[in-house]
Amino acid sequence: MKKLNSTFPIALSLIWALTSCNGNNEDKKQDTGSPDTIKAGISRTDWGEFDGKKVYLFRLTNTKGSEVKISNYGGTVTSFVTGDRAGGKSDIIIGFDSLNNYLRKPPYFGALIGRYGNRIGNARFKLDGKEYKLAANDGKNTLHGGLKGFDKVVWDATVMNDSLPSLTLNYVSKDGEEGYPGNLKGTVQYTLTEDNELKIEYNAETDKATPVNLTNHSYFNLTGDVNNTILNHTLMIDADNYTPVDGTLIPSGEIKTVKGTPFDFITAKAIGKDFDSVKGGYDHNWVLNSKGGSLQKVAVLSDSLSGRSLEVYTTEPGLQFYTGNFLDGKFNNHDGKPINLHTALCLETQHFPDSPNKPGFPSTILKPGEKYHSETVYKVVVN
Ligand code: BGC
Repeated sequence: MKKLNSTFPIALSLIWALTSCNGNNEDKKQDTGSPDTIKAGISRTDWGEFDGKKVYLFRLTNTKGSEVKISNYGGTVTSFVTGDRAGGKSDIIIGFDSLNNYLRKPPYFGALIGRYGNRIGNARFKLDGKEYKLAANDGKNTLHGGLKGFDKVVWDATVMNDSLPSLTLNYVSKDGEEGYPGNLKGTVQYTLTEDNELKIEYNAETDKATPVNLTNHSYFNLTGDVNNTILNHTLMIDADNYTPVDGTLIPSGEIKTVKGTPFDFITAKAIGKDFDSVKGGYDHNWVLNSKGGSLQKVAVLSDSLSGRSLEVYTTEPGLQFYTGNFLDGKFNNHDGKPINLHTALCLETQHFPDSPNKPGFPSTILKPGEKYHSETVYKVVVN
């Protein structure tokens, strides 16, 4: 991977212009001017500003006609347009076309999640004999990094001089931010391949031991139309076990078989098939048979209307399958249609929720000198 030479004029244009503006970001002008082409397969549009930093929307395209849009606000994937069986195209990811909508704090649509994806029970954990207190932003628990997680910060963006369209985002989370110990340097690279794969690579380093669990929170509806429920999609998850949860969605610490339960997706089935027997809908962590470590196919989501399938590959040991149980029509998708209950779902690759308090779960502690590395690929296939 080579960075664009700094004498290259387009690379220069990527150096952020820091502004002295502050105040109500909701009122900031949304510059949705014409895109600048950075290199083949990548263009960039000014999208406004937040926290005194410029926000951009990057558009990555491949020669197969697919496109992905990503903002450096929250490292958010705002759109993933792909073909369907009938030769049409649509957006299979929930998202918005303006920064202002993201500032209304939607439920993590498309965003990067950190420092810790999913919940930590009672918003606290002990590490090396010391107790750390986090923000309780989900009842008494902490969710997705706290009040201002990695989804609500502006990342520094660099376009790499790779053969494929690829965007690298950097964020330094300060020691004590949201209660977590250590300065954590996080790097996330998004790449769109010629095989219609959105590849996400996460790297991080710290100067004090800290929990780290990074993921992406894209919501999918493979029909491309949120008027269609995702309960008709079929899903396979290659996991013999899952982690049962309490009423506040904190795992009990047990690892239970999916056999004979509604959590059995070993053989692909309609999501709606056993849905009514899961109180509140699916919002659980599956313990992947791949166990993590190497990139393996762990799930396949399919939609018979469009002919699209989404294959999920990851190096992570867990997968949070969430059926949009809290979607309530408050936000409208790109096309103006309300995003209602069960009209989009998430397949979040991760370590297990509440691992810092669950000694039996794979560790999420990153120590100084170690390198955090994780990869996930979302591949769209048309049948
Ligand atoms: C969680 C849900 C939560 C959602 C937020 C998912 O990862 O598991 O419980 O409501 O994110 O949108």
